[in-house]
Amino acid sequence: MNLSREALIERLKDRTASVAVLGLGYVGLPLATIFAEAGFKVTGIDPDASKVDSICRGESYIQDVPTEQIARLVNSGNLLATTDFSVLRRVDAVSICVPTPLRKTGDPDLSYIVVATEELAQYVHPGMVVVLESTSYPGTTRELVLPKLCETSGLRVGEDLFLAFSPERVDPGRTDWTTYNTPKVIGGITPACGEVAAIWYSQALQTVVPVSSAEGAEMAKLLENTFRMINIGLVNEMALMCDRLGIDVWEVIDAAATKPFGFMKFTPGPGLGGHCIPIDPLYLSWKLRALNYTARFIDLASEINTSMPRYVVGKVQDALNGQRKPLKGSKVLVVGAAYKPDVDDLRESPALDIIGLLQQKGAEVEYHDPYIPSIEHDGWRLQSVPNVVAAASAADCIVIITDHREYDYPVLLERAALIVDTRNALGAAGRGNPKVIRL
Ligand SMILES: NC(=O)c1ccc[n+]([C@@H]2O[C@H](COP(=O)([O-])OP(=O)(O)OC[C@H]3O[C@@H](n4cnc5c(N)ncnc54)[C@H](O)[C@@H]3O)[C@@H](O)[C@H]2O)c1
Repeated sequence: MNLSREALIERLKDRTASVAVLGLGYVGLPLATIFAEAGFKVTGIDPDASKVDSICRGESYIQDVPTEQIARLVNSGNLLATTDFSVLRRVDAVSICVPTPLRKTGDPDLSYIVVATEELAQYVHPGMVVVLESTSYPGTTRELVLPKLCETSGLRVGEDLFLAFSPERVDPGRTDWTTYNTPKVIGGITPACGEVAAIWYSQALQTVVPVSSAEGAEMAKLLENTFRMINIGLVNEMALMCDRLGIDVWEVIDAAATKPFGFMKFTPGPGLGGHCIPIDPLYLSWKLRALNYTARFIDLASEINTSMPRYVVGKVQDALNGQRKPLKGSKVLVVGAAYKPDVDDLRESPALDIIGLLQQKGAEVEYHDPYIPSIEHDGWRLQSVPNVVAAASAADCIVIITDHREYDYPVLLERAALIVDTRNALGAAGRGNPKVIRL
């Protein structure tokens, strides 16, 4: 429907505006439910028919979104899902939540944003507000999305089309900070764009934090994730240095963390995982490379973090060696495969590299993860063993990659012949224990 700016704002404020969310994944589905809970009529659009069918049946496929909530919102008519983009013709407000992965070369893959924007461009009309949520390099909203929406439609940004960027901060598995109560940064292509987008989002989210430009909002997200990536790189290097020095890095971190100010605790691990931290900073360094600038901190942290899976495999090899066993032919059980505890998200998980490297070196690898029944990756396929304790008892070495809460660590410690603990999951019980090698 064609609306004036004033009429659009009125519809956003009284929540009669119709909303669409493009991309119903980890970010888009929770966001769609937040808008639907606020009383908007929301249509989720996704080319993945299985996701759309699942929502139409009232079923969730995202761990953080309860099926009961989807069923209730679908039954009330506030949440619909479709693969048909033509519904955008009647939509007033659109959030774009499509993936932004890396190509095999390590360069940003913006094809999902391009395709989603081109679909939207066919139906864009006066009085529409569009917010890009997908993490990308500063300038994406203005340089990539804006021309596609305005060039053929002839719409004027800030006057009859309102375009903004708002980074998602969802932390899968987290219950204290959710899409609803985590402050949401929003920056528009023009001040009017930012204002309209902030009015929309503040109807459904607890706190909206306006910034002066889309680029400011894009960069804020990259600062957040680069901060994490670099601090993880630093603490991973601490682990490497402590190993050389024969010092317990976990004790060092706990001791440093007693400082009540000026220190923030990060812990080492087998490598970065998830859809954000390993990837987003590389969008920034890629953009800067084009401007003849090298993002040195990002490059260095990335180098250290990506070396961790190989380091862990080295630890398994050393541990077996200590028992006069070669890695080749030894039974190794990988305990936990998700990229972080208590979630079913395998994306970029270091477990993938570690399993692949162990297999390359001839180990007989099995894995267990209560949330991930099978893994297919890089030409190999494994099924989670049914019983982690039985498999741990039968293995020559187990390697704890993901410290899921539901594991009984004292029992694993008792039954396993040898343990490489990359997460300090065994805590003090692992310290000084001859069959435990800690990161
Ligand atoms: N997962 C997180 O924890 C997280 C946190 C913050 C930000 N982000 C960012 O949010 C964005 C989305 O991430 P995600 O985790 O939700 O990804 P996802 O893969 O879970 O979901 C993306 C969805 O978009 C759909 N899609 C693909 N092409 C489409 C198109 N042309 N039109 C409509 N839908 C399309 C896919 O089918 C999929 O369902 C990424 O840029 C990511 O970096 C993710």
